[in-house]
Amino acid sequence: MTFGDLDVLLAHTSLGIVAVDDRCPHMSAPLSLGELEGCVVACPLHMGRFDLASGDPVQMPTTGGLDPEGNYHPTWSPAGRDPKPDVPGRKAEARRLTRVRRFRYYPVRIADGVIEVAIPLAGD
Ligand code: FES
Repeated sequence: MTFGDLDVLLAHTSLGIVAVDDRCPHMSAPLSLGELEGCVVACPLHMGRFDLASGDPVQMPTTGGLDPEGNYHPTWSPAGRDPKPDVPGRKAEARRLTRVRRFRYYPVRIADGVIEVAIPLAGD
């Protein structure tokens, strides 16, 4: 769903319905293109996996970088593939310092069978 410049992902997880920004907390890819398994949504861009119940990364993106607490994680490759060389330089430094953010949640309620999402007004 899009409201102005706000893209919202409404997901029916195993623990209930949740509304978050439809933007990966890593580099903003649309999570609605990913797959949901239980409460975990997988981002198609760098294979990060995020728990929509806790907001925590379950699997860091292949690019590595910082988790929400600021802990560093190295780059990684899916099984069966050679690791990409991490050539030192500004790009590698940017990868290393890119931080996975926490989700921004929007209140959800179901009233008379209708799912309602509280979206902030512009300027809120
Ligand atoms: S943009 Fe989603 S894991 Fe990188």
